[in-house]
Parts: sequence; structure tokens; C-alpha cells
Amino acid sequence: MLWLMRFSGFFSAAMLVILLSPSLQSFHPAEAIRSSHHLDGLLRLPPPRLSFRPAPRFRNAADANKCASSSVSTSVCDPSLVHVAITLDVEYLRGSIAAVHSILQHSQCPENIFFHFLVSETNLESLVKSTFPQLNFKVYYFDPEIVRNLISTSVRQALEQPLNYARNYLADLLEPCVERVIYLDSDLVVVDDIAKLWSTSLGSRTIGAPEYCHANFTKYFTAAFWSDTRFARAFAGRRPCYFNTGVMVIDLVRWRRIGYSKRIERWMEIQKNDRIYELGSLPPFLLVFAGHVAPIEHRWNQHGLGGDNVKGSCRDLHAGPVSLLHWSGSGKPWTRLDSKQPCPLDALWAPYDLYGHAH
Ligand SMILES: *[C@@H]1O[C@H](CO)[C@@H](O)[C@H](O)[C@H]1NC(C)=O
Repeated sequence: MLWLMRFSGFFSAAMLVILLSPSLQSFHPAEAIRSSHHLDGLLRLPPPRLSFRPAPRFRNAADANKCASSSVSTSVCDPSLVHVAITLDVEYLRGSIAAVHSILQHSQCPENIFFHFLVSETNLESLVKSTFPQLNFKVYYFDPEIVRNLISTSVRQALEQPLNYARNYLADLLEPCVERVIYLDSDLVVVDDIAKLWSTSLGSRTIGAPEYCHANFTKYFTAAFWSDTRFARAFAGRRPCYFNTGVMVIDLVRWRRIGYSKRIERWMEIQKNDRIYELGSLPPFLLVFAGHVAPIEHRWNQHGLGGDNVKGSCRDLHAGPVSLLHWSGSGKPWTRLDSKQPCPLDALWAPYDLYGHAH
């Protein structure tokens, strides 16, 4: 991939830009406001006044007629659309906006993409509209109460946010005419045409995701889980492999028919009484789907770039081509860039950041 081959040159240039650009170095007051919100305890306050620059208008196809739904008003039920679902969590809003920006920039037919935004706060619709004036989108309210009683404490507080669990309810939330959706986390950028991911075959499977069969699957569940045959037999007859739930292609028709939301909820109920895992929304997905996932090329989720809890631990890309960069883990590129302690790969996120006012 030419993009990757140019990587090292681009990378040094990007680091230079960061070192020289006063706007990237400046401290954003909103960050300080958000940090002080944490001190107010667990109360979820109304969205802080984040402002974003409007994204440029993308018309990427040489022949716009090739893009089927370039009509004036696009209905959500138009069968030629590519559907993308993403949460707009106030804490991760800057990441979500960058993700959308990256998708539009690399899509040959950005006008064919329909975004489904999941929110738990109001007032975000006008922000999306002003940042992406041409965007086809719909905002869905996800009631945190749906999962409030199902969430148990996890190793990282960020994993306990109700919106983190919204991906389990896409089949109910989205319009019934939407038959397939790509779910994406907020801490990633897409650097390839998302239409390629959209057209991936799922065969007879309900979800598709890159699988990691060399990862130690045991560690995603507690000893209490593995020692209790009532639980451990859930994996009988399949070869479960780890997959990351931050990038999934989902067949919503099959999901609705088989009722997977309820199956996932059943494991969350069990977790409340018997602690069978330590992470948040991921393990119930592994319990239901691991070993039954349509494998997608690894280029579509170069994950782990956030690094772990150890300060200053920066990750490198995995070998192979890259279509999507995912800052999963506890570190996020925007906080590291703001604090002037970026990891080298954070320079690849920065070009999609629309945070702040126009100069
Ligand atoms: C996998 O992880 C478990 C639990 O952390 C550990 O006990 C086991 O030794 C690991 N297996 C391998 C092959 O590393």
C-alpha cells in the first residue's frame, strides 16, 4: 500500500508539523472544563461547549454518477446506502468527529454513507449538522436505564459508560429497513474506502470482525468462569478466538431473528452474581459469538494503539496493510496530543481532528 510505504516520511513530516504548530500545542480550555467535571462526581453534566470546524465538502469520485444515491434527499431505507453506527459520547466526541471525518475523506462515494449516531444526551444533532453540513445521518437516543442495572464494575471506569453497551441494541434502535450496519468505536480513523468493508461477505454468520486466534483467550474470563462447567461449556464445540468489538459488520436481519441482544443480556445477568470476567462490554460478545465470527482482514482493525495503563507505553502497528487505525486501550491520541506527550502514531490521528475554531 503506497500510503504505508510513505509512512516513515510522512511520519517525520507530521512530527515536525506538531512541533512547529502553535495551535496544536496550545492548551484547550474545554479540556480543563471537562477535567473539572470529573471532580463533580459521577453526575453526567450537559455537554460542554465543544466546538468543531466544519469539515470540507468531499466529492471524491471522478465520476459522481457512479455514486448511486447522490440525490438531494437520501432516505435511510435507500438500498444503496452504506450504514455506519457510532456513539457520540461527550467524553469521546472529539474522537467520533475525527472518525466520521476520516471515513468521508477516504470514501469514493461519501454521499452514499448514512451515519447512525447513538447518544445519551441532547443537543448533539446541531453540532453534527454544523460540522458536516452535507451528512446523511440520524441521531438515536439510547436510554442509559436500559443497561444501568446490567453493568457491573470493570477494571477501567471508561468501560462502564452505558453508551459503551449501545452496540448490543443496534438491531432494536435502528430503522427496521436497515439490514446491515458497520459498528465503529470512537477512538479510530479509517484510512481506506469503507465501502470495501461494507461489501465483506459474512457467509452464514451474524457478525464479522478480524479474529486473533493466537491471543490467549483464557485471560478474558476469570478462574471462576473456567472452573464452573455450567459456564465454560458455553464454548463447547467451537474454537473461540478473541475479536475486538470496536469494529464489527453486523447482519441486523439475522440478529433480530435470533434475538442476540437477549443472549448477551443473559450473560450480563450472570456476571452480576458470579464474576465471570473483568472487562466491560466485550466479554458477553465473546461468549455469544467467539468461534462463530466471519473473519475480516486484519487491516480493518489495527487495534491497541492507545497503549495500556503504564504511562508512556506507545504501541506500534501490527505487520501488514492498514485500512483502519484503532486507539483501543486506555490512552487516547487527543489527550496525549493536548498534553504534548504524543505517541509517534498519534500523528496519524491528528489530521482528522476538527476540534477548535477556524483560524
Ligand atoms: C493464558 O492466560 C492464563 C490466565 O492469565 C494463564 O494461566 C495461561 O498460562 C496462559 N496461557 C498461555 C499459553 O500463555
